[in-house]
Amino acid sequence: MDYPSVLEHIHAAIQPELERGQVATYIPELAGVPPRQFGMAVVTLAGEVHAVGDACVPFSIQSISKLFALVLALQAEGDALWERVGREPSGTPFNSLVQLEAECGRPRNPFINAGALVVTDILCSRHAVPEHVVTGLLRRLSGNPEVTWNPRVARSERMHADRNAAMAHFMKSFGNLRNPVDKVLDVYCHQCAIEMHCVDLARSMLFLANRGVNPLNGERVLTASLSKRLSALMLTCGTYDAAGDFAFRVGLPAKSGVGGGIVAVIPDTCGICVWSPRLDEAGNSHAGSLALEMFTTLTGRSIF
Ligand code: DON
Repeated sequence: MDYPSVLEHIHAAIQPELERGQVATYIPELAGVPPRQFGMAVVTLAGEVHAVGDACVPFSIQSISKLFALVLALQAEGDALWERVGREPSGTPFNSLVQLEAECGRPRNPFINAGALVVTDILCSRHAVPEHVVTGLLRRLSGNPEVTWNPRVARSERMHADRNAAMAHFMKSFGNLRNPVDKVLDVYCHQCAIEMHCVDLARSMLFLANRGVNPLNGERVLTASLSKRLSALMLTCGTYDAAGDFAFRVGLPAKSGVGGGIVAVIPDTCGICVWSPRLDEAGNSHAGSLALEMFTTLTGRSIF
């Protein structure tokens, strides 16, 4: 597969699209990111790296952290996790509260904010310094010991976390949050504020393309079965209430964040990350979604 020319083609074709969509502003520190940026990286199971544009510019990974927090919670709890979080698409925005009341404080899935707060609560119960565990996993997966969070973004989000706080308190009233709400929100905001670039994130996805084993160092991250389940969840819930349209257009398991990043995986082939800050109405990167659609069209590779 000639990945370099596919990526060059996408980079050229995407230019007019970089004007479309809006940068997330509800976290003030994200509003200042220069919007006209685009990067894309593909890392193969053999470790070959192909990248274009701003693929080495770090960005705020935001909800992409939910994927790696879930890896840690699944490692710790296995299938017991599903007693506290569902695994169905929500059909509502990522920060919606409406389903929580009728469904007794059990969020629909781990990739909406409510679900990620329960996952974070599990990490708080299991780790003495839970702020560091997702960063630690991402350092091991990417091979970059310098992965860390941006303290300004973490503070900015924590100061504007009223909606997430409402969800957390509500779930606590149903007994589905075990730690103090302030603690869970602190840890959650630190996870969302982690900064990485496309190459390191694409590399961090390789274990999912390889049945749970990181091909670069042989470390088993998840069982083959849990790796399959995580990819299925990405396909059905990873891009919020646009997951149906995303699967239709792109045909890959993926996870997005309001920083404009999207990670995706082609089983037995490669990890992918694309980043462009302007978002569509569902909160997914506008140019990023289009670039992934072009990628599966041009390469003929998807899970279908
Ligand atoms: O909690 C929030 O709202 C953000 N830290 C993360 C949301 C997010 O990335 C959803 N992505 N599309």
